[in-house]
Amino acid sequence: MDLKTPNANSIKGKNVIVRLDLNTQEVDTINYRFLSTKETISYLLKNKAKTIIVLAHLGRPEKDKHSLKINDFDYYNEKLSLKKLKVILNKIYKTKVFFFKHSVYSDKFEKYFSSKKLPRIILLENIRFYKGEGENDKELAKIVGNVGELFVDDAFSVSHRKVMSNNAICKVLPSFYGFNYIKEIKNLNKVVSRSKNNLAVIIGGAKIQDKIDLVLKFAKNSKYVLIGGGVANSFLYSMGCEVGKSIYEDISNINFKKLDFSKVLLPVDVKVINQFGIVDSKMCADVDFKDMILDIGDLAIQEFISKIKECNYVFWNGPVGYMHDDRFANGTRSILNFIKNDTKRKYVLGGGETLESISLFAPSIFKQKNIFVSTGGGAMLWYLSKKIKK
Ligand code: 3PG
Repeated sequence: MDLKTPNANSIKGKNVIVRLDLNTQEVDTINYRFLSTKETISYLLKNKAKTIIVLAHLGRPEKDKHSLKINDFDYYNEKLSLKKLKVILNKIYKTKVFFFKHSVYSDKFEKYFSSKKLPRIILLENIRFYKGEGENDKELAKIVGNVGELFVDDAFSVSHRKVMSNNAICKVLPSFYGFNYIKEIKNLNKVVSRSKNNLAVIIGGAKIQDKIDLVLKFAKNSKYVLIGGGVANSFLYSMGCEVGKSIYEDISNINFKKLDFSKVLLPVDVKVINQFGIVDSKMCADVDFKDMILDIGDLAIQEFISKIKECNYVFWNGPVGYMHDDRFANGTRSILNFIKNDTKRKYVLGGGETLESISLFAPSIFKQKNIFVSTGGGAMLWYLSKKIKK
């Protein structure tokens, strides 16, 4: 993969189309995802790009039943309009951002962009309002590409989707990568190349199927895989343990005999909510069919942290418990507390819920030098799965 940023001279006086990932539920706060777009935008501004045309998405309008085919958009949905990002982006980029509300298929689009005096930054409406985005449509790429002279992809977290705004458009314009994209790849490559005697991997969260492949690969390519959340429940269930009403998926097609369980660690104890709504701590073997497992227990926390201490490099995706409820946040919070006070090891952390848990329990982590926080969830897992040997 040839990862090049555009050179400063090639930007001057040009209309540069930039794909950013501004997809977040916290649309009116200066969050980590927004901030991670700043370096590329500042670079383009500093090197005198004439106009920066931003392509981005919010949510999944194509799947939302409230989306309308209206005004030349295929899936218009006011709730998912990028209009509301204008104010926050003005603040972050310290430059006025103009929001272009019309469809790229309307007459107004070409007319507007042929005017001599354009604003420095123009944010186009949610790119997922067009069917052609998901279909990687060449015609849409031509229409959008027509108003730019260079393309920069800085949306690593969408890289697992082959869409118009990261694929077809590259065939229309000279294309480059943004700083955040490159940083993501470099840091994930470090996870891949790390000696397996030195790497601890923590996998949790609820998107179970996406993560099983990675657990199996890391089982051979790391020192420890520490498993929590719905992923742990799925292992426990499929190996014949009672998990009651917990979230799990049947993964009994895995040949568990081939796994070395001195390296792949499931929690020995858990926090459950029982049939009477009472929170209880239990050894895994004692979980009742009416219990729901919602966090790892105190022994598991100690064991996970002691394994982390044996390694120099740590990769983490997905909280180990249901951290949205404080009664079940202890596992995730305790590991984060350890990490935020640890300057010795190098960490790569990522995934939507992992990011949320950092914001909630240990926001100082975002600024820690020994920690890289990835903006990608699905993209990060996809990239690692592709790169790590079976
Ligand atoms: C994300 O939030 O992970 C990216 O923006 C991709 O969003 P998607 O999962 O809806 O494609």
